[in-house]
Amino acid sequence: MSRSAELIAAARAARAAAYAPYSKFAVGAAVLDEQGRIHAGCNVENAAYPQGWCAEASAIAAMVLAGGRRIMAVAVCAEAPEPVTPCGGCRQKLREFAADDCPVWVADMSTQRGTYTLGELLPHGFGPQHLEP
Ligand code: THU
Repeated sequence: MSRSAELIAAARAARAAAYAPYSKFAVGAAVLDEQGRIHAGCNVENAAYPQGWCAEASAIAAMVLAGGRRIMAVAVCAEAPEPVTPCGGCRQKLREFAADDCPVWVADMSTQRGTYTLGELLPHGFGPQHLEP
């Protein structure tokens, strides 16, 4: 299995664990770290709606907990009429750990729906380099 197929499979599996009783919109995400490890996550909603968080945020947290510090590729899986790309806030969260050329693979449960780079999704983004002296 290719790395992209593995990452998408991990995102699909994570989607099955999503806690999305309010939106009913289940999302899974997976990130590939600099050690070649895959970390997955799902969205976790809350009765206080704004307190929920996205699948990408969960996957990033899993990576950081495991000691990963760079994101080499991202996969997102959801079922929608249009390919589901990371929300604006998650593009920024990904930017912290990923370069502009980092691939973002977007899929539903059966098909790969799109391939982007983070730079395409978040052009001219603010990142850690802006805080360097
Ligand atoms: N969601 C994600 O988890 N990732 C995305 O890329 C888009 C949106 C979640 C947030 C919320 O739980 C639900 O999808 C509906 O917006």
